[in-house]
Amino acid sequence: MNRCLSFLCVILCCLPVWADEGMWMLQNLTPKDWNKMQSMGLTLSPEKLYNDSLPSLYNAVVHFNGGCTGITVSNQGLIFTNHHCGYGAIQSQSSLEHDYLKDGFIAQTQAEEIPIPDMVVRYLEKSISVTDIILDSIPENISEKEREALISKKIAQVEAQYRKNYENTFIVKVDAYYAGNEYYVNIYRQYSDIRMVFAPPSSVGKFGGETDNWMWPRHTGDFSVFRVYANTDNEPADYSENNVPYKPIYFAPISIEGYKEGSFAMVMGFPGSTNRYLSSWGIESRVKSSNEPRIEVRGVKQNIWKEAMLQSDAIRIKYAYKYAGSSNYWKNSIGMNRGLKRMHVLEKKQALEKQFADWVAQQPDNPTYIHTLNLLSDGITHSMETNKIRTYLSEAFWAGTEIIGLASEVDRIHSQEVEYRETLFNDKILPFYKDYEPSLDKKVLAAMLQLVKDHIPAQQLPPEIVAIDKKYKGNFSKFAEELFKKSVFLSPDKLKSLLLNDKNFSKIEKDDAYKLYKSVRASYDALNNSTQADKDKIKQGNRLFIKGLREMNPTHHYPADANSTLRLTYGKVGGYPPYDGAWYDYFTTTNGISEKYDLTDPEFNVQAEIMHLFQQKEFGRYANEAGNMNLCYISNLDITGGNSGSPVFDGQGRLTGLAFDGNWESMSGDIAFEPEVQKCIAVDIRYVLFMIDKWGKCQRIMDEINIQ
Ligand code: ARG
Repeated sequence: MNRCLSFLCVILCCLPVWADEGMWMLQNLTPKDWNKMQSMGLTLSPEKLYNDSLPSLYNAVVHFNGGCTGITVSNQGLIFTNHHCGYGAIQSQSSLEHDYLKDGFIAQTQAEEIPIPDMVVRYLEKSISVTDIILDSIPENISEKEREALISKKIAQVEAQYRKNYENTFIVKVDAYYAGNEYYVNIYRQYSDIRMVFAPPSSVGKFGGETDNWMWPRHTGDFSVFRVYANTDNEPADYSENNVPYKPIYFAPISIEGYKEGSFAMVMGFPGSTNRYLSSWGIESRVKSSNEPRIEVRGVKQNIWKEAMLQSDAIRIKYAYKYAGSSNYWKNSIGMNRGLKRMHVLEKKQALEKQFADWVAQQPDNPTYIHTLNLLSDGITHSMETNKIRTYLSEAFWAGTEIIGLASEVDRIHSQEVEYRETLFNDKILPFYKDYEPSLDKKVLAAMLQLVKDHIPAQQLPPEIVAIDKKYKGNFSKFAEELFKKSVFLSPDKLKSLLLNDKNFSKIEKDDAYKLYKSVRASYDALNNSTQADKDKIKQGNRLFIKGLREMNPTHHYPADANSTLRLTYGKVGGYPPYDGAWYDYFTTTNGISEKYDLTDPEFNVQAEIMHLFQQKEFGRYANEAGNMNLCYISNLDITGGNSGSPVFDGQGRLTGLAFDGNWESMSGDIAFEPEVQKCIAVDIRYVLFMIDKWGKCQRIMDEINIQ
């Protein structure tokens, strides 16, 4: 019996762990990694996946507009990404006459594709390690400030060197990995003539709205379609009528064969940031100094916005994008605080720190890591309260009250030479008014002032807020009422003329909105500066902790935290137990839309014509084995914000879906990966194609793509 048991244990312990943490840097994948992927179902050869001198799969992946990912699916620069990644564009092109948010958008001809100002995509050309050059001869015992100065100088030199080797249409950027223990130069080609081709109605692209956001099971058709244009030499160029569709180095084939429980899956994309090496003190600070104040402040603001959005279509269109952006990380913060507790992340981190401390104690002759944990605990604990106040101020004013954000932008433009100001005003300030509703912002301002007064100790309140409180006897609504009656920020023409003439700027300086902005800015900056020594300690502590960990476990492949650079994550399609006694399946179907459908709730209301399409069940080649259509599916891939729109590939490198979200049970996943429950939610490519083909009847897209 015992022998059997230990035999079983050997088998179990040797079984590979499928659920794998890791947003891997493609250039660093080892033969062992490739073997593992192949044993799990990858059949595409490594060279076809990543080879920086021959066309390969990674060449099809784009960093979409700074914060998302997309995938090139045709030899005419067609890009698939998420609906929520194209949301800003869809919203900005919408009006009461052309409500693309509500009705969707279909360019049935190339001429109907809409150019999106300021939108860009980047293709990664190469990523090369420059750690040796950057860290060469950086002395160990210098202050963090001196170190930073030396490293910035080296980075500038390396970037300049690489820029010489490339034409100026390339973007060259050195990025830090492993908290500054490694550096890579990333070279991109950036295209800036991007046009909107197709968007489903929000009832599909955002089905489930904020209620379903960060949740599984999901029924969201979260996709949109854009096209990259280039000049006639296929080079990046600003928008021009003469530009032509871009011919990519590689574009991804699409599979409509689907997947099963256990099928191999991989994602390539540009994850924004994770904090997997955050210390136990860092977790406490994240919970109390960032997440809690954010949850509170955004909650108040969002309630004000939501009420108005429900009452007016014009306001709904104006605030849809802003609301979604605010709500996304509001809900994320709620889920993260809950997840950190539920997953006992603090205790796990404390156990790791104990292990680290024991390892350090075992080598009394090595002084490198002696202070590491103290640097972290001192720096974080000492700055926690200050950071909490800063979060209240930034959430209430920079992100909360739009008129204060506007004042900040005006101030920035004022710091520029007079001759540039008009263009800046036209580019940065004028578009703001299109989606601005002063009557709403007035309510927000009063609520924000009250919140801040209630939570920030009186002696640390910005003096202007103290003065307003006194003058208006705590009646912030009255103050807001008066401000919105008089402020020059409410009339763009007047504001512009004052801004363009230095003599008249004093009128802006006397404006209540500007005075409030200036006072909050001064307090905020002072708080920020007061924690500089702590920030240095934390930075040094982080760098040493990661370096030490890798030294402590030299055979363990520690993945680098996300930093908006290209990564690969691989794993398997499969369900998970959300809570004791329950199991969530790995895919959803149109049946779920009928189950969730609610005519009275804008988040779950779907146009009759689309419901009809689903009910007819004529899914043709997009149907699953049971004759139904899959909408979304999950796999244990390691993704985060920035991965939105990332291609999910099968083992042959064919596109099977687009990643768009994480699940509620793993909201602490950016801090600690949770192998049991952490999932990547993707929209099934068959649903995407069904919408383009059967709903949009957009044959020209179907003709362009390559279904294999
Ligand atoms: N949570 C997803 C992400 O961060 C989707 C966000 C957009 N959707 C929404 N309902 N706000 O990528």
